[in-house]
Amino acid sequence: MSERNVRDQLNRPMRDLRISVTDRCNFRCTYCMPKEVFGDDYAFLPRNELLTFEEIERLSVIFAELGVKKIRLTGGEPLMRRNIHELVGKLTHIKGIEDIGLTTNGVLLKQCGEKLLNAGLQRINISLDALDEQLFGKMNGRGIKPSLILENIEYAQQLGFHMKVNMVVQKDVNDQEIIPMATYFKNRGIVLRFIEFMDVGNDNSWSFEKVVTKKEIVELIQSEFDIEAVDLDYFGEVAKRYCYKDTAAQVGFITSVSESFCSSCTRARLSSDGKFYTCLFASNGFDLRALIRDGATDEELRAAIINVWERRTDRYSDERTEQTAKNRTKINMSYIGG
Ligand code: GTP
Ligand code: 5AD
Ligand code: SF4
Ligand code: SF4
Repeated sequence: MSERNVRDQLNRPMRDLRISVTDRCNFRCTYCMPKEVFGDDYAFLPRNELLTFEEIERLSVIFAELGVKKIRLTGGEPLMRRNIHELVGKLTHIKGIEDIGLTTNGVLLKQCGEKLLNAGLQRINISLDALDEQLFGKMNGRGIKPSLILENIEYAQQLGFHMKVNMVVQKDVNDQEIIPMATYFKNRGIVLRFIEFMDVGNDNSWSFEKVVTKKEIVELIQSEFDIEAVDLDYFGEVAKRYCYKDTAAQVGFITSVSESFCSSCTRARLSSDGKFYTCLFASNGFDLRALIRDGATDEELRAAIINVWERRTDRYSDERTEQTAKNRTKINMSYIGG
């Protein structure tokens, strides 16, 4: 099969594929899966509606032929998908895929870490929003202690994974944790990335007022440490990074609200039930699973993916207002995987 690099309406290539492998999670983060909405009777996807590993592999091969070079596994919580290492093993063999990462809350790392490493995974991003025990327990909705996540980060680092930590910052919720988190991860040489709180999904009562911007965080960090901006690693990198002048340690900022990065957005998303989305803030996806299970050929799947990408005009973060945040129906973050 000949390779073909597709471009969308804004001339953006398709370079990254974010694959959600489950819509379930063992956390109930207040801004993502609030307990009141995702209660005991919440209807998660039944198993037969999830893409199988074989289906994910088949689609990934086609995405790679169309220009995708990076794959990121997400959820929900990807480590809750049984035998996730087997999927990693399949994806590492795909021609054209140069990088595979996984984004997790880290709770199950001790159980899965070695198998993932042996399967060929090299990079793990961990979500951690606070070091304060009570606050973190409240934010994750399950009373999980930060010490467990910190131990697991250390464990995974010792195994040899390249790690980053993501912290979603919300005004008057966890902004007092910015300096403690920066200090902790600076001392361990792990890149900490501050994420501006976004209006993903329909359940997190977002407003501009709850966002702590990159500018505010940089000023705060500069009051303690000497940091300076460094160049992007690759075209389309979502984080702007700074290094601490006295060490090799770095911090990053994901500025979807204050400095949107849609013009270089090369990310395609695949939900756990096989819908293809071209934006984190989309309301609809294209059902690739239906095509597969109706017996589509690779050529037909390929044509469908090209067609969706070539029509793509998404630039939600460039256009965001209080109004769009409130009125637009979006898919949940736990379903599409961030
Ligand atoms: P690296 O390959 O390590 O750079 O990973 P990554 O930053 O692409 O992935 P990760 O899962 O760690 O994402 C960090 C944050 O960036 C999450 O909150 C994502 O939702 C956010 N993010 C990633 N891609 C996009 C995007 O296309 N648009 C927006 N608005 N946010 C994004
Ligand atoms: N705003 C910003 N980041 C979010 N994440 C989840 N919900 C939001 C939100 N509303 C983050 C998670 C994880 C990544 C995949 O997305 O904390 O690090
Ligand atoms: Fe929290 Fe991530 Fe689970 Fe959402 S998917 S509830 S952000 S751990
Ligand atoms: Fe890409 Fe949509 Fe995020 Fe913009 S808002 S960077 S188009 S996923």
